[in-house]
Amino acid sequence: MSDLSRRPEGAVVGEQLAHESAALHVTGHALYTDDLVPRMPRLLHAHPVQSPHAHARVTGLRVEPAYDVPGVVRVLTAEDVPGVNDAGMKHDQPLFPSEVMYVGHGVCWVLGETAEAARLGAAAVEVDYEPLRAVLGLREAIAAGSFQGGQPTVVRGDIEAGLAGSAHVFSGETDMAGQEHFYLETHASLAHVDESGQVFLQSSTQHPSETQEIVAHVLGVPSNEVTVQCLRMGGGFGGKEMEPHGYAALAALGATLTGRPVRVRLTRTQDMTMTGKRHGFHTEWRAGFDADGKLQALDVTLTSDGGWSLDLSEPVLARALCHVENAYWIPHVRAHGRIARTNKTSQTAFRGFGGPQGMMVVEDVLGRCAPLLGVDPAELRRRNFYVAGQETPYGQPVRHPERLVTAWEQLLSDAEVTRRQQAVAAFNAAHPHTKRAIALTPVKFGISFNFTAFNQAGALVHVYKDGSVLVNHGGTEMGQGLHTKMLQVAATALGVPLERVRLAPTRTDKVPNTSATAASSGADLNGGAVKHACEQILARLELVRAGRDLPWEELVREAYFGRVQLWAAGFYRTEGLHWDSTVMRGHPFKYFAYGVAAAEVEVDGFTGGYRTRRVDIVHDVGDSLSPLVDLGQIEGGFVQGAGWLTLEDLRWDESDGDGRGRLLTQAASTYKLPAFSEMPEEINVALLERAHEDGAVYGSKAVGEPPLMLAFSVREALRQAVAAFGPEGVSVDLAAPATPEAVYWAIERARHGDPAGRLTIGSVEPAQPAPDSPPLRPRSEQHAEAVPETAG
Ligand code: MTE
Ligand code: MOS
Repeated sequence: MSDLSRRPEGAVVGEQLAHESAALHVTGHALYTDDLVPRMPRLLHAHPVQSPHAHARVTGLRVEPAYDVPGVVRVLTAEDVPGVNDAGMKHDQPLFPSEVMYVGHGVCWVLGETAEAARLGAAAVEVDYEPLRAVLGLREAIAAGSFQGGQPTVVRGDIEAGLAGSAHVFSGETDMAGQEHFYLETHASLAHVDESGQVFLQSSTQHPSETQEIVAHVLGVPSNEVTVQCLRMGGGFGGKEMEPHGYAALAALGATLTGRPVRVRLTRTQDMTMTGKRHGFHTEWRAGFDADGKLQALDVTLTSDGGWSLDLSEPVLARALCHVENAYWIPHVRAHGRIARTNKTSQTAFRGFGGPQGMMVVEDVLGRCAPLLGVDPAELRRRNFYVAGQETPYGQPVRHPERLVTAWEQLLSDAEVTRRQQAVAAFNAAHPHTKRAIALTPVKFGISFNFTAFNQAGALVHVYKDGSVLVNHGGTEMGQGLHTKMLQVAATALGVPLERVRLAPTRTDKVPNTSATAASSGADLNGGAVKHACEQILARLELVRAGRDLPWEELVREAYFGRVQLWAAGFYRTEGLHWDSTVMRGHPFKYFAYGVAAAEVEVDGFTGGYRTRRVDIVHDVGDSLSPLVDLGQIEGGFVQGAGWLTLEDLRWDESDGDGRGRLLTQAASTYKLPAFSEMPEEINVALLERAHEDGAVYGSKAVGEPPLMLAFSVREALRQAVAAFGPEGVSVDLAAPATPEAVYWAIERARHGDPAGRLTIGSVEPAQPAPDSPPLRPRSEQHAEAVPETAG
């Protein structure tokens, strides 16, 4: 066991604790960035002038009329920028654009004494536009060749040989939607110039260091003149990894120009129309199976909808490509990725970071092909699991794949799957208009940033003379419980009770050069750094203690008088990682997080309406740092995934009318989020036991994102329930999101026994079998007519 993962006696990690701010959250006392507004005298409010066009050149901008509006103090335009007019890391996101790229794009910003004055001022600004051709749909972008960024490929084996040698080859298309983050707290930044002349920013950001960097670029000052603090976020979900920078820069620019504090806080409508979302993807694939249903080859092209700028689209795509095989061994793989440029918001990180979109491919392939192969879908999945000694398509050994099997077997017994499947069959036989199904799906998710350099973190731990402890670390708190875990880590490492430790808000002047709190790696990285800092202090204290049995407070006092340093900076970097993005090979992940889920749904044949009756999950968090926090992450991630796959339906106006490019679903009234009524009626979560992870902090594993992908079980259960309306062996092509409407149409197709996809996009077409392979198992007449294709 490594030093990093070994737990001492009486460890505080592993205790079931409430979130450190739980009481504050539920009483409304937890402060978020915008709650600080009343503490700032003479504060100015900002409002954007937003483009009504999806794509246009700005040919004229007259800001003077805004100054006629009472209360307007300043209009910010490109001319005001002393540094670089750009809000991104790729230099393709002008803060004040001369060409607007999507409906809602901010052209300039008005600062007013009140939010209303700023709004009226923005309405008075006159902008001339020369409309340009806008690309909206993903297919439209592909047809127009509208791409941005690199086009990497993950390759293993010989795809054509693999397909040629397969007994069964299918091809199809899979489309999946984007997703709105809908964090409760919208984007917020608050800037002022402090008494020493430095810019101090409060920002709702997952990446304070990068916010600092961008603000410094925009202002044309070195980073040491800008400090960013993040108190906490009311949810980030990836949406505050890259998106906050521009808003922070606007606030900072306003503050330096006016000498007054400036607040940029988006309304919900602004947040939904201006900020990036999960990438929707279009994928085209060919999949080959052997006679036993074992995957032999997967050839897939993934095209993500990047929106107007690159943002995080490239790393999101890389993670998608590294997850196309999910938990399954596939000897021959070719996964090719592209990023479309469309005139929409700049799509960005969202819990799972491309992983969900990648995995969706193989889960859709298995769900659609199982009936055509005549194999039960759960059995087909199980049969294809990785086994020890195998590698991922990008060349990383898959460690502990047996944990998947353990979890799967536990799930089968805990959830009484066999008994309930019999009950489902009996129910379905008795109910022609209502069908039920249970589906099981696995998750294998790589933990670490693909980009090796990001896998580092810092911490600053102070022990004061009275024995109290103050911890700073580089991670941000967005509700995921990172601070709770870090308190537990510090208490464990120092061997003091939890009450002795306090955590201070994340600030760039305390811990510099931090990575985003993202990739679920917050606890791994910052936990390593906190522990390292504590251990340095403890080592010095041990010399003072000299084997005596002293209470903590006395030990600290004695150390102080002995002139022993009572604080330390900690640093951690994940060992053993390497990644070559030019060939898409290496060992990018420290380990894999595993999980399995079983979902039971009931579908109404008249309406397509459905309910999730029960969900069972067995998830691998290693030795949990904080079991209640992890439980919350698993439930929350699962529900957010179910929202993405079944309810949340982003619609953009793709018509040629005046509204072209407008986000039609820009409020909670039209964008359906999971609510209490859509929660599974019963949800049972078990943490995989005896799951110590050697080489990670106190034997734990990351938990933030992987459970989101357990929601594939709901989608697969819906697919199977839909199939139950049709003849035996019908392959169901289910749209994503599988809204009640989509389910209704899938039922219609299933009832008519249409071979999936002959009527719709996203077909599974049984291809010509390889010359001497056995024929497909018997299927319905209709399937036999399916259009054959050559397997190449
Ligand atoms: N949980 C809550 N409550 N709120 C959030 O914004 N973000 C998720 C996940 N869980 C999020 C959350 C995302 S996208 C990530 S990457 C991780 O938390 C980040 O935190 P961690 O690295 O500490 O797990
Ligand atoms: Mo999470 S999408 O990595 O912020």
